[in-house]
Amino acid sequence: MPPDRKSTLKMATGKKVFIKTFGCQMNVYDSQRIGEALAQAGYAASEAMADADLIVLNTCHIREKAAEKVYSDLGRIRQVKARRRHEGKATMIAVAGCVAQAEGPEIVRRAPLVDIVVGPQSYHRLAELVARADVDRAPVVETAFPLASKFASLPPRTELGRPAAFLTVQEGCDKFCTFCVVPYTRGAEYSRPVAEIEAEARQLADNGARELTLLGQNVNAYAGMGPGGERCSLPELLRGLARIEGIERLRYTTSHPGDMSDDLIRAHGALAKLMPHLHLPFQAGSDRMLAAMQRKHTVADYLGLVDRLRAARPDIALSTDIIVGFPGETEADFAATLALTERVGFAQAYSFKYSPRPGTPASLLRQQVAEAEKNRRLQRLQALLGRQQTSFNSACVGRVLPVLFERGGQRGGQIIGRSPYLQAVHAQGHADLIGRCLDVEIVAAGPNSLTGSILDPGACGNDAVSGALC
Ligand code: 5AD
Ligand code: SF4
Repeated sequence: MPPDRKSTLKMATGKKVFIKTFGCQMNVYDSQRIGEALAQAGYAASEAMADADLIVLNTCHIREKAAEKVYSDLGRIRQVKARRRHEGKATMIAVAGCVAQAEGPEIVRRAPLVDIVVGPQSYHRLAELVARADVDRAPVVETAFPLASKFASLPPRTELGRPAAFLTVQEGCDKFCTFCVVPYTRGAEYSRPVAEIEAEARQLADNGARELTLLGQNVNAYAGMGPGGERCSLPELLRGLARIEGIERLRYTTSHPGDMSDDLIRAHGALAKLMPHLHLPFQAGSDRMLAAMQRKHTVADYLGLVDRLRAARPDIALSTDIIVGFPGETEADFAATLALTERVGFAQAYSFKYSPRPGTPASLLRQQVAEAEKNRRLQRLQALLGRQQTSFNSACVGRVLPVLFERGGQRGGQIIGRSPYLQAVHAQGHADLIGRCLDVEIVAAGPNSLTGSILDPGACGNDAVSGALC
């Protein structure tokens, strides 16, 4: 930012901002940091869009549906802006995130009500961009990939009382799977330095975080600078973070099978605070499709990894991402996806119909699968995944699991937390117990959550799940 702009930036005292987040956990993290950066510039958070002087849509471009949702939201926001104008109030509209990065000025052309378009690497400058759009009375588009990292310019973490927090440690992707927009929207792989991450982790712990989920599009390719200028790997980073007082649980997502090092696999057996859960997308169950997707791993590689992970940590729960209907996928390829799913047995999974994304190599392939066939395959796959998820959850009934309680439930007297395996667990308990990790006897299981009863709120620290600290 040129110094003159910074010094002339007026505090937006009395102004309110409403942030809506689309897409992945990294966008949730980015929205929190946008909120904190705007708070520093004087904006208070608003729960209602109609009260906001600034509306930020933090967007996702991964599939067509996600991107189109932004435009339908902008249609509704046009009415909010018009109503506020009638009341004599101005409203600034900012589109941030991956749609902003991918579409840039096209957004303003399609939706002229938008005042600011800002990519994922420049959101720390949002207050300045809003001020510029206001003064210039013209839309501002900022989608460059600046050399300096945004993280160094963001204010400290301030949000209190979030027992489970996200922390971005790595961003971008160099893998270039042929279906994926991420290498274009998030750019090349970048790993934050260890010291910066540890400082943020300590801030989060001081603010009440007990669990950290380290985020990265390719998080297990993490290679940030260590204290002596050396490259530090993800398991090394995890071991350092496990030493921070107050941090009781660690997770990381999303991983690529090609970057699951021996050291990282060993950490699942050796590092008590690392939770027994891993999200490891496999995308497709035939080597032919994996090659066409340029995944750089085979079915045998994936199965080998699963065996080694289960040898290191026998109770590890696996989740995954799967795409059906990639161009050229035959019934036999799809059957191989079902077979791999069957063979591994997942605790949870996300499955998607292939969605052609502009600018990606797969979108140019000729053998696109018909929509009706994609729907049929998705239904069959989801039926299998649903059965696996239910059976994984049912197997927990009767066990005692340590649960970190994160929030109140919709029903009075109910609190909700997460098991070590990332399942949502509902229990009757006082709101005072939020932020604590307690032993819970699981009494019932549904497809998406468990119900349990807290054994003794006074006595925490059961190690019923071997190795899982709480
Ligand atoms: N079509 C469908 N699914 C996709 N994903 C990424 N790109 C596409 C696409 N073009 C899925 C992958 C990835 C997850 C985040 O989204 O499964 O792992
Ligand atoms: Fe996209 Fe993940 Fe492949 Fe990177 S590794 S291109 S983020 S699917």
